[in-house]
Amino acid sequence: MRAVDLIMKKRDGGELSREEIAFLVSGYVDGSLPEYQVSAWLMSVFFRGMNPRETADLTELMLRSGDVMDLSGIPGPFVDKHSTGGVGDKVSLILAPIAAACGVKVPMMSGRALGHTGGTLDKLESIPGYRTNLSPAEFRDFLRADGYAMTGQTARVVPADKKLYALRDVTATVESVPLITASILSKKVAEGAESLVFDVKCGPGAFMKTFPDARRLAESLVDTGKAMGKRIVGVITDMTEPLGLKVGNFLEVEESLDCLTGKGPADLMEVTYRLAAWMLVAAGKAKGVEEALRLCEAAVAEGRAMELFRRNVRTQGGDLAKMDALYGKLRSPHSFELRAPASGFVTAIDAYRIGLAGVYLGVGRNTTADPVYPDVGFVFERKVGDSVTAGDLVARVYGKDEASLAAARPLVEEALTVGPAAPAPRKLVLEELAAL
Ligand code: URA
Repeated sequence: MRAVDLIMKKRDGGELSREEIAFLVSGYVDGSLPEYQVSAWLMSVFFRGMNPRETADLTELMLRSGDVMDLSGIPGPFVDKHSTGGVGDKVSLILAPIAAACGVKVPMMSGRALGHTGGTLDKLESIPGYRTNLSPAEFRDFLRADGYAMTGQTARVVPADKKLYALRDVTATVESVPLITASILSKKVAEGAESLVFDVKCGPGAFMKTFPDARRLAESLVDTGKAMGKRIVGVITDMTEPLGLKVGNFLEVEESLDCLTGKGPADLMEVTYRLAAWMLVAAGKAKGVEEALRLCEAAVAEGRAMELFRRNVRTQGGDLAKMDALYGKLRSPHSFELRAPASGFVTAIDAYRIGLAGVYLGVGRNTTADPVYPDVGFVFERKVGDSVTAGDLVARVYGKDEASLAAARPLVEEALTVGPAAPAPRKLVLEELAAL
């Protein structure tokens, strides 16, 4: 087999066999194929796409490049949720203990902040002492004991994705539905979950900016996951303004605690409950979403979800006393206030600009080597649709130093739009696709 023939075949709109895809993937992972040929193949996929069979083969071949978590001996059912990334998206922190309190096991492997979107691991690590670098044995033990465990992906999980993603990043081939599908799904299937719920974010603050693009990705994830024998749900949710009222690392832990006492902001509670409910349906714990929603709400109302959250913090090395003492207090001394420039209604708080500003502030990072800070970010006092009088406080903005505030300020000011009329209410859950 010659790589050039496969590149030519895909370039001309042909279909690659499983063996041909395996030749390219394994050749890249073992170093026998040069980057320029793999880059050319990726670009041909970018323009020509892949059919569902090719996408499923690519996903499975990538999955097989590394270890798959062995959860045998632990009673299931195992179900996880994955978000394609947003701003203020702390749903995983809240939903994992809710779902676990309803009797499913949640083996969650998460990522770090990169670009304008936040990362679950960075948020959790803002809890003093909390460890996310669990060994596979710890991950299994904690999952068995607490019903859920949160860890990062080790180098042994889908090494093909690590190499391919880095190459896509520098060859302008990230935004390809089959390549994104294989990348996300291979890593999620490697966790060992039998059922998966994908939160496909849609809007300016998301990877998929438009509804048709988000729908294409949701469909591809659902179809490919189903072809791999998984029970899959794709939920398309809005990412036009940041989710909730707090954006930052420890700030989002604080808001997660609010949600677990049932006092979280309405938008965040709605999205979290909906996704958690689908996890229960996918895992066979409820017949439908309405029944599952009631189970999730009861887990919060009865304090069972909070109890599991606190147990998980302790299990993973976190210091509960320090976490509680820092609540409402862990704020950088460097801050400014964003005030309404006019009277009227908040018509937009652009999640993308807020996410980018967050990188300057120290919430997120531009490269994987950049540090992130626990005490920076945004505390919003107003959401889109709220009325304001000129000069009202809209948000407090905290940065790692004065220079970071100066860099972030123009973006933060541009993110806010105030108009004379209230905007039409936006739906948060845009579409749900299930293959169960
Ligand atoms: N996130 C991933 O893990 N992979 C992609 O390809 C895109 C987003």
